[in-house]
Amino acid sequence: MHPNPTLPPGLIDALRSARAVTVLTGAGISAESGLPTFRDPTDGIWSRFRPQDLATPAAFRANPALVWAWYAELKARADAAEPSAGHRALAALERHVPRLTLLTQNIDSLHQRAGSTGVVELHGTLARVRCLDEDVVVEDPVPVDGDGPPCCPRCGGLLRPDIVWFEELLPEAALRAAQSAAEACDLFLAVGTSLVVEPAASLPYRALSHGASVAILNLDVTERVTPPLFLLHGRAGELLPALVRAAWPNAEV
Ligand code: OAD
Repeated sequence: MHPNPTLPPGLIDALRSARAVTVLTGAGISAESGLPTFRDPTDGIWSRFRPQDLATPAAFRANPALVWAWYAELKARADAAEPSAGHRALAALERHVPRLTLLTQNIDSLHQRAGSTGVVELHGTLARVRCLDEDVVVEDPVPVDGDGPPCCPRCGGLLRPDIVWFEELLPEAALRAAQSAAEACDLFLAVGTSLVVEPAASLPYRALSHGASVAILNLDVTERVTPPLFLLHGRAGELLPALVRAAWPNAEV
């Protein structure tokens, strides 16, 4: 444990003086809420399950009850979890920077529950369902007997979680907002993401090429400071509160 991690002074200055900060989060920030990441070699979701069985439109059409039940379990775990110190620090950061855009690949709503507003959900959310055939969000799903997916009140078709599966495109408005926020920021933070899934993975590089400072905060990077690219090795729940407090000593985090 590193309760007071050493932070690069250049990063603290960049945060304090930034007019626009964009943050991209991944499963690592929710790991400290007790939710599994995707690619951890022992308990990562994709180490234990095959994405092609659960996270594609074809998998859902082949076995809707199995896929629905699997995501219902994931949602139950997310709903039972509490936001982590990292989620809370990002909610606090909103009160200090003139413009903060929070982009997340997570589908667990923990940023919103920590108090963040205007969260851009690049991979959708487990909090909504949409009609598989009509491709529209449905507010009043019709429950069915048993464990299967609910039905669309209009067409009677299957409802699915409103998330992005493999082989699917990201929601267009969210992707556009993310790309603009990457291009327009002075500082971009990538927190708790392996940066292997496109197009989210390219966002830090887009920010860098538009002149922003970029910091990667992750458990598995080697600590080294090479502005404008800062690599910070550690837990999101320790690094983020420390960073906010270093920039604004009176911040409530
Ligand atoms: P991954 O599981 O690929 O990566 C999680 C990252 O978080 C890893 O690099 C870990 O080292 C790091 N990490 C773990 N615990 C941490 C902690 N306490 N503090 C900081 N870092 C920590 O998850 P994502 O990058 O979010 O997509 O995965 C991207 C997408 O792949 C997901 O949104 C999901 C998945 O397939 C869809 O479902 C569409």
